[in-house]
Amino acid sequence: MKVKANILGLGFYVPEKVLTNYDLEKIVDTSNEWIVTRTGIKERRIVKEGQACSDLAYEASIKALRDANVKPEELTHIIVATFTPDYCTPTTACVLQDKLGAKNCQMAMDVAAGCSGFTYAIDVARGLINVYPDAKMLVVGSEVCTSRLNFQDRSTCVLFGDGAGAVVIGSDEKNKKATIIDSLLRANGSLGYLLPVGKEGGSAKPYKVGSKVTADYFINMNGPELFKHAVRGMSDMALKILKKNGLTPDDLDLFIPHQANLRIIDAIAKRLSFPREKIYINVDRYGNTSAASVIIALSEAYSKGLINPGYKVLLVAFGAGLTWGSVLIEF
Ligand code: ACO
Repeated sequence: MKVKANILGLGFYVPEKVLTNYDLEKIVDTSNEWIVTRTGIKERRIVKEGQACSDLAYEASIKALRDANVKPEELTHIIVATFTPDYCTPTTACVLQDKLGAKNCQMAMDVAAGCSGFTYAIDVARGLINVYPDAKMLVVGSEVCTSRLNFQDRSTCVLFGDGAGAVVIGSDEKNKKATIIDSLLRANGSLGYLLPVGKEGGSAKPYKVGSKVTADYFINMNGPELFKHAVRGMSDMALKILKKNGLTPDDLDLFIPHQANLRIIDAIAKRLSFPREKIYINVDRYGNTSAASVIIALSEAYSKGLINPGYKVLLVAFGAGLTWGSVLIEF
């Protein structure tokens, strides 16, 4: 790529409301002990009544814009990665554009790639910056996963949470916080059946007015099968993007894998012989926030001062589709 995509600012937002494992014990047949030992999750954030995907995206975006010293009117592109949009249409990106007052936007669109959504959106932004070198782009991962959770299904409802993260991207070299060195994606639609959301209620099986909403409207997944694909997919992806850039895991200062399950993270670390100390983990506090997961983690690590200039950071995500994605960043 001729024009570099630089990160000019970062921000994240999680709702104030905390749902602990003990709260879940009162809703489904589960226990704090089972959830912690099988997933590492202790609590997650959930939206309050009426808080939509665009509201979380707005809060994260305002922080990223402030960090970048960029005004909403300067934005030319908005990309929102989500599988829990406010509506089918208008897109959450268009709703967000309106809320921000980003009236000079040329393009606003959603990207749907499950939990890999943010890495997909970054790859799109890297391409776009080469078509529009003066662009100022807002790239967001935002999810209200709880809107697609069946709270009668203990095998899924304990895993997910709500939140959003955002970055401002431009070619500006002077005011950059970091440079996106590379991004690499993969998809395998033949495994989509392992994690369907909305088997009913979409055009494949539309609802009619007055239809009964069934469990098929919500997240369904084959956890143990996905576990294997997630470990293999994210490990392979990490090694591929590092090799492509002449690097090894030893060259990384921080590794941010998709925050789905602590056991998946540990299994990847073992495969890559990567030390735990260099892995950023917040799945214990936020659960799996899908497309928001890796950008919340990156933005949180950055806001805590854990990322120094010169640090090489690798994001790797895995999700429904199935999809895989990785982003290599140098601060
Ligand atoms: N509380 C108590 N027991 C439970 C719960 C629960 N919340 N959920 C399942 N169980 C039970 C099961 O019924 C089963 O009981 P049984 O042996 O009597 O049949 C037992 O626990 C073991 O179930 P498994 O599904 O084999 O448990 P496993 O160790 O595989 O953990 C988990 C399940 C946590 C879902 C794991 O498979 C996993 O994390 N998979 C990956 C999921 C994932 O990452 N998905 C997201 C990736 S894509 C994306 O992010 C959208």
